[in-house]
Amino acid sequence: MHHVNLIIAKDPAEAGRLAADIFQELINAKPDCVLGLATGSTPLPLYRELIQREKDGKLSFAKVRSANLDEYKGLSGDHPQSYRYFMNENLFNHISIDPANTMVPSGLVEDADAMCAAYEAAIEAMGGIDIQLLGIGHDGHIGFNEPCDHFPAATHEVELEEITRQANKRFFNSIDEVPTAAYTMGCGTVMAARKVLLIATGKDKAEIVKQSFFGPVTPMVPASILQFHPDCTVIVDEAAASALK
Ligand code: PGA
Repeated sequence: MHHVNLIIAKDPAEAGRLAADIFQELINAKPDCVLGLATGSTPLPLYRELIQREKDGKLSFAKVRSANLDEYKGLSGDHPQSYRYFMNENLFNHISIDPANTMVPSGLVEDADAMCAAYEAAIEAMGGIDIQLLGIGHDGHIGFNEPCDHFPAATHEVELEEITRQANKRFFNSIDEVPTAAYTMGCGTVMAARKVLLIATGKDKAEIVKQSFFGPVTPMVPASILQFHPDCTVIVDEAAASALK
């Protein structure tokens, strides 16, 4: 079995810098690489660092392509809580990436199955994902792959768990406005990425980090499947490492 490469950073800012080092190395080695990107509060220090590094001339996003993990069902790309909007605001609008080269699942489609199949095909047509960035949910979810009795393979529609809706309601006016479903890459999509980089910061992630990477591989803890990925790096800050000895 492969072991994840665990890196312990002092704090979220240092975790962001260490993650940016990995992105910078990849982008410089392969200027048209395909980045699998994620939303949430965890990647923000990384995104700020990448924006600054391009301003400083250390890397260029001009030829980079990207595919995001997930999107809420029912939100358009200009809804402030959509993940497309988040990516534009927090990364794409501040770097030289061609917007046409950025993909986020569409939250507003008539035919969800066709959109999901097309999303998988588009990733394949780009040559696959070179590095997939992930956060982790308190229940071990990656993307919106929630605990269940199997590891979902491909991009699909999911009903959101109450714990996830509650965790995300801080961004909405009320819990009623939090979507009840989403589209997400599957665990199989993530596992097909050539490299995986998961970041977890904060004491509230300590227990799930321990379960995911030092416990049994089980679909009840979706992130645990990364123990079987041949090239997975996990960057945690000291708080998120605090349940590990
Ligand atoms: P967070 O979300 O980065 O906002 O903690 C992570 C996730 O739910 O995947």
